Amino acid sequence: MAAFMAHSAATLRPHVKVHKCSRVAQMQLEAGATGVTCATIREAITMANGGVTDLLVANEFLSEEKLEVLARLVGIGADIAITVDNPAQIVALAAAAARHGVVFGVLVELDVGMGRCGVDSAVDAFELAANVSGQRGLTYRGIQGYEGHCMTVRTAMVRRHCAEEANSRLVDAADYLASRGCPPEVVSAGGTGTYAVTAGNDGITEVQAGSYALMDTFHGGITEGEFEYALSVAGTVVSRRGRQIVIDCGLRSVDGALPVLWDHPEGQVRFYGEEHTVVEFPGAPSPKIGQVVEVIPGYTASTLRLYDEFLVTEGDVITGVWPIFE
Ligand SMILES: Cc1ncc(COP(=O)(O)O)c(C=O)c1O
Repeated sequence: MAAFMAHSAATLRPHVKVHKCSRVAQMQLEAGATGVTCATIREAITMANGGVTDLLVANEFLSEEKLEVLARLVGIGADIAITVDNPAQIVALAAAAARHGVVFGVLVELDVGMGRCGVDSAVDAFELAANVSGQRGLTYRGIQGYEGHCMTVRTAMVRRHCAEEANSRLVDAADYLASRGCPPEVVSAGGTGTYAVTAGNDGITEVQAGSYALMDTFHGGITEGEFEYALSVAGTVVSRRGRQIVIDCGLRSVDGALPVLWDHPEGQVRFYGEEHTVVEFPGAPSPKIGQVVEVIPGYTASTLRLYDEFLVTEGDVITGVWPIFE
């Protein structure tokens, strides 16, 4: 990803929800990322504690307690920008900034088709941008429009079209903001399934893709071998008969889309329950009973909620233990 982005005018601000680990974020910065994107307060704390201080918190907040934590992070040197889509969040942010004597950056979020957070139109985005510009303690930085709805489109050409359309809505809104006297310094978008399209749009200044870093079967299915898998969960074959094995590694261990076996891709996951994954092979299963197999999760971000640390390996040797959250 970093190599691809080095040839793009846009910068890379990877989303850290997919690893929640400042060591991985530091590696991304060393490879050229200009900062990171977080979804939660806990991710922001983890990054700041680990010395990663250029943070976009791409989420909407009203809670005094949560904003107090962010303000304290700014107080100890973090540069934090937060997204808004409602005047109520601006009021809460400005109050927190005033209470703690800090400044938050602000991006207005536009809904580019995902139907999650974000204002509906460029006109609404302008109203919020003008509102932010008038507040002490807030600095208007620009606009975000994450095309998350395109990631679930499996066909590459249709996904490209979806991303082009979403990116155009974002850039059109950015142009409108500029025409009304609120030129966005930051126009932020992009995920692992759309990064090439997003980075190719001259109006977009940064790409927030994150899943590429560790990968999972969901993103593997939409990137066609562009990124290597780096994360697996160790499971044990606890039953073996005929053409099937059962691994003690179900939804409590790997979350999201159907997992696959790292070294045994010929095995098809037939059933995936709370404590078990049942894998069927074309003939006699290659894994033996009692064998430890590596399971690639369907979705990294939700799988990592279940763990406290990564065991980092080189070959068969564990070379590090990296905390997930700090
Ligand atoms: C706002 C935002 N930006 C970026 C991303 C990262 O996308 P991906 O996991 O496809 O790399 C996400 C993921 O959910 C997101 O919500």
